[in-house]
Amino acid sequence: MHTILLTGGAGFIGSHLTRLFVTKYPEYKIVNLDKLTYAGNLENLKDIEDKPNYHFVKGDITDLALVRQLFKEHQFTAVLHCAAESHVDRSITDPLAFINTNVVGTASLLQAAKEFWGTDFSNKIFYHISTDEVYGSLGETGFFTEQTAYDPRSPYSASKAASDHIVRAFYHTYHFPVKISNCSNNYGPYHFPEKLIPLCIHNIINNKPLPIYGKGENVRDWLFVEDHARAIDVIFHKGRIGETYNIGGHNEWTNIALVKELCKQMDEKLRREKGTSEKLITYVKDRAGHDLRYAIDATKLKNELGWLPSLQFEEGISKTIDWYLNNKEWLDEVTSGNYQKYYAKQYDGV
Ligand code: NAD
Ligand code: TYD
Repeated sequence: MHTILLTGGAGFIGSHLTRLFVTKYPEYKIVNLDKLTYAGNLENLKDIEDKPNYHFVKGDITDLALVRQLFKEHQFTAVLHCAAESHVDRSITDPLAFINTNVVGTASLLQAAKEFWGTDFSNKIFYHISTDEVYGSLGETGFFTEQTAYDPRSPYSASKAASDHIVRAFYHTYHFPVKISNCSNNYGPYHFPEKLIPLCIHNIINNKPLPIYGKGENVRDWLFVEDHARAIDVIFHKGRIGETYNIGGHNEWTNIALVKELCKQMDEKLRREKGTSEKLITYVKDRAGHDLRYAIDATKLKNELGWLPSLQFEEGISKTIDWYLNNKEWLDEVTSGNYQKYYAKQYDGV
């Protein structure tokens, strides 16, 4: 039995995680604490919002008084911490927002949990969801393992690295019941169209340029978001306290190859002439400090807990494109208003 404080449940990964836990564990109570920033959207949870074991609280994880009050009210036995500022490009223009939410916010959750749990950690879990970007950038070979030294290079990854360190410090100092996972790039339904894949899907639909940073040679390891949620479920229930688990897709793509695959599949689905969408590819100024390559070695998770990704990439991408084509209202809604301003500033007329 668990009563779980799940943070950031209205975001991309958080909404999949909330859906999985609310439906798979009807005996658990899930309280979703989300500030509803530009990236949070309650439409992402429409299908489960009326479930009796689900509650939503609009609020900020940095608000320690609120978090303390929620612990008192709901008597949480676990925290699934997903809330974050998550977009590298935004961290380049506004680093303090990332330090505030990702570092101070994580510390405030730890502090409230520590005050409430005292030293009785039986049946308690503080699960911190993190990223492979904390390890920095790989060259053309090699993989990130759980032993790889941290070397974050963007304000986003540095803020996530700092939060990982604080979580680990609570384990070493207070024997706090922490678990951490560091995952590679996710894709799938409800992904906000500021990130590469949903941005390109949205632009292909609307015949707009597909902005590729630099030469498009940077490599990312893509994992279907539901597979990430499944991995978190397994680690939450069976992973060892104090341990870190890497989660990855064994699925490396250069950005340009990935966008070409998207173009190919979308031409077919939209019944456009072969090669139509590729003409939209536009090379733009590179991201500052752009990490060359991320690739995860997820052997520990496979050997210890038996987790493997369930979907091949071509199938996952096809499912993802279909979701966006069938949910144009969602896409229109999230790309109206402030999104337009963000886009104009970020892509400077492209
Ligand atoms: P997202 O940006 O889609 O969602 C973040 C959610 O957190 C939003 O609902 C937002 O409203 C909420 N939030 C932001 N600041 C908050 C605050 N101060 N208080 C309360 N709620 C707040 O992010 P995502 O892509 O779903 O990422 C979720 C987590 O997974 C993050 O911790 C991220 O670092 C990690 N992660 C993401 C990826 C990826 O590819 N997207 C990969 C590995 C790890
Ligand atoms: P992104 O989806 O922002 O994830 P992350 O930076 O966290 O890996 O970007 C994925 C890759 O795509 C990254 O190498 C940057 C690149 N990219 C572009 O080339 N153009 C874009 O418009 C965006 C958003 C990203």
